[in-house]
Amino acid sequence: MKHLTNTRDLSSQEVEDIFTRAKALKNNHHDSTLEGKLIITIFFENSTRTRSSFEIAAKRLGASVVSLDVSKSSASKGETLFDTAANLDAMEPDAIIVRHKDSGVPKILSNYVNCPILNAGDGAHAHPSQALLDLFTIKEHFNFADVRGKKIAIVGDIKNSRVANSNIELLNRFGLEVILVAPPHFMPPLTGLKTTHKLEEIIDEVDIIMSLRTQTERHTNQSYASLKDYAADFCITAPRIGDRDILLLHPGPVNRNIDIDDAMLSDSRCKVLTQVKNGVYVRMAILEKLILTS
Ligand code: NCD
Repeated sequence: MKHLTNTRDLSSQEVEDIFTRAKALKNNHHDSTLEGKLIITIFFENSTRTRSSFEIAAKRLGASVVSLDVSKSSASKGETLFDTAANLDAMEPDAIIVRHKDSGVPKILSNYVNCPILNAGDGAHAHPSQALLDLFTIKEHFNFADVRGKKIAIVGDIKNSRVANSNIELLNRFGLEVILVAPPHFMPPLTGLKTTHKLEEIIDEVDIIMSLRTQTERHTNQSYASLKDYAADFCITAPRIGDRDILLLHPGPVNRNIDIDDAMLSDSRCKVLTQVKNGVYVRMAILEKLILTS
């Protein structure tokens, strides 16, 4: 049984296979490979993009989707996560897609069910499908040529970001040089990567910038004066980028004029909506891989 709890669950060859399939699906749009399959989504934490992206991906492949409304489910009546999982499993789904505020929940669930578990984001730990769609978007931008040696700056609240965690592992593995740009309180300890507190220091050497949202919901105490102060140093603005040839990414939701300014959000170098579009195709390929080869 294959699960996707973090990017390490996939070999580099499997990642390449997913990208080849996602590329074909992007040219083709539909296929009915998952007809007759049942997929359950259970999101214990808010989501706009990821949940709809997975659900659209499943439906485009002909699968049926049941979305559990957690506020109405028995979890809010005190049922343990283990019992919720066992009950979902008893309905014999072909895959369960889960998001949870606590790190490790998808991994634990994977021990108690008989179908693939897909992690749609757990705490500050991992968000594998996001990292896969980010790498796919990067590769597509460079016409699927070799991206080894490309430099990417990950900018923002890296320490609290599951998107950063998954991307650091995956991008490194595919030969990109990852540079972390954050104020000291948002910098993770001991990554072995190049780090800086100043965007200006690396702006001339990077090919890609991935801006991240400040994860205020994961801060136990406020560690900066205000988001405006943070933005003064780390917002990706048109004057900061100038006419440099840089691919700009963000997993969403974007805090406008805090993470990226209005001008850069409407600039053709910003591929936030391309990421969203690619996310559906990459997730279609992930679902096929896990459900049909498990
Ligand atoms: C992210 C998440 O929820 O992990 N968004 C996403 O899934 N596209 C990032 C965030 O919340 O900032």
